[in-house]
Amino acid sequence: MFITLEGPEGSGKTSHIPYLVEYLRERGYTVFPTREPGGTSIGEQIRDVLHSLKNTEMHPRAETLLYQAARAQFVEQVVRPRLTLGEIVLSDRYADSTLAYQGYGHQQDLEQVRLLIRYATGSLVPDLTVLLDIDVQVGLQRKQKADEWNRMDAYTVEFHQRVRAGYLEMVKQEPGRWIVVDAGQTWADVQAALRNKILACLPPAQTQ
Ligand code: TMP
Repeated sequence: MFITLEGPEGSGKTSHIPYLVEYLRERGYTVFPTREPGGTSIGEQIRDVLHSLKNTEMHPRAETLLYQAARAQFVEQVVRPRLTLGEIVLSDRYADSTLAYQGYGHQQDLEQVRLLIRYATGSLVPDLTVLLDIDVQVGLQRKQKADEWNRMDAYTVEFHQRVRAGYLEMVKQEPGRWIVVDAGQTWADVQAALRNKILACLPPAQTQ
């Protein structure tokens, strides 16, 4: 099963994943946590280019293509092999981030972006996607405080508002694949909601 976590900046995905993985492993599941952009040596190098605050001149189309290059490597080197082994791949972001950020955020043609994603992924779509939804201002403040500011965070608040609206639109368009968790709750409540909602979607673990 391929599960992805998505959300606007500061939604807290990254801090929740290790605890979620531990919880699922305790229940007998084999889980492989990973992240995008990254997850491979080539992907991590591309991540550095994408996130560097020095690269302010990057054009949205160049940005879109770099995310797809990292993703193509990620799908073939990490995701497909792990899925073939029967593992649960749990990824911190995937292709929906491209639709949200490069599609809705940069207001590029969504159909063209979808075609690029299909090419990069060989049409691999997650089985389940969790949106950690957060108010944009609250999320950006969290990131600034955590000292994790990167080139993407530095886009305008309006850009990030379009990203969040894009996510909510995607949930509406494909409700069967998405679960929404309110990331404005306490950390413990968000973690509990993630555990319960994801567990409810999983088949029984083989050791149970
Ligand atoms: P993160 O570590 O905060 O998740 O950083 C990833 C950043 O990259 C975040 O700002 C979202 C952005 N991103 C895109 O714009 N498009 C993509 O396809 C992916 C995977 C991430």
